[in-house]
Amino acid sequence: MDEKRVRKAVFPVAGLGTRFLPVTKAQPKEMLPVVDKPLIQYAVEEAVAAGITEMVFVTGRSKRAIEDHFDVNYELEADLEAKGKTELLEMVRAVLPPGVRCIYLRQGQALGLGHAVLCAQPVVGNEPFAVILADDLMRPVAGGTAVMAQMTHLFGQHHASLVAVQEVPRTETRAYGIVGGTPWGERTERIRTIIEKPEPEDAPSTLAVVGRYLLTPRIFQHLARQTPGKGGEIQLTDAIARLLDDEPVLAYRFEGKRYDCGSKLGYLQATVALGRDHAEIGPEFRAWLESNLGTSEGGQ
Ligand code: G1P
Repeated sequence: MDEKRVRKAVFPVAGLGTRFLPVTKAQPKEMLPVVDKPLIQYAVEEAVAAGITEMVFVTGRSKRAIEDHFDVNYELEADLEAKGKTELLEMVRAVLPPGVRCIYLRQGQALGLGHAVLCAQPVVGNEPFAVILADDLMRPVAGGTAVMAQMTHLFGQHHASLVAVQEVPRTETRAYGIVGGTPWGERTERIRTIIEKPEPEDAPSTLAVVGRYLLTPRIFQHLARQTPGKGGEIQLTDAIARLLDDEPVLAYRFEGKRYDCGSKLGYLQATVALGRDHAEIGPEFRAWLESNLGTSEGGQ
């Protein structure tokens, strides 16, 4: 097997989505739509664009809708076919492109992000893999490369684990994993320290980890030994901190824009931004924004 090719992505989707209650009471937060696609579909499309073919979902209770979304819906397809709705039929079928496989694992207890990733070890095995948090919706710059594809490309060059990072205001460090590093390449730093959700005064920098990781399988050894950290949870950040002693881990300032769809504000910003750019309704939506809100440009 080609050790450098990244074939698998892990999607931790067992979280309860409490920040979005009541809408997440009976449906997964990953199924919240941005315009016309659920968040999890954007995440899977990003993995597919990076050449990843095995999608490993670490799920929990009340997450069946995610499995159904990526499964064949025979009734719907037969109905669309009978009515000659070819375009819609193609769109429904394209939700999971040919050659892409979905694997579902159950995270029995919600013990944290690190624990969720560890649950995927039997399926990931001994190869590098991506971790994608669907809450973070990543859009490349116009005409640019998808963020995970940027990362797999970089991995092909350096063969080092990578985490995507962006600058955040110092007041917000307690919402993120924060890295401290030394310059490495053009958009990369070698991480020297990484801390989960530090107080602003304890943060080694204002460079925050966002929901994209590309990890070597050595991380599993550390996750298996990891004791509960911040919030009493098994933290992926803490295992990455241990990994730093074994091998270089790079912080990558990705090219593109992140929408924090785990927050109401970020979710609304994503909806407006993607609505404006949408092939079908974009022009009309932009015109509406302009005449009603006095803007069609300049949002997030
Ligand atoms: C998780 C990680 C954190 C990271 C963040 C990115 O936190 O633990 O290190 O910065 O995702 O979105 P969460 O937002 O799940 O609390």
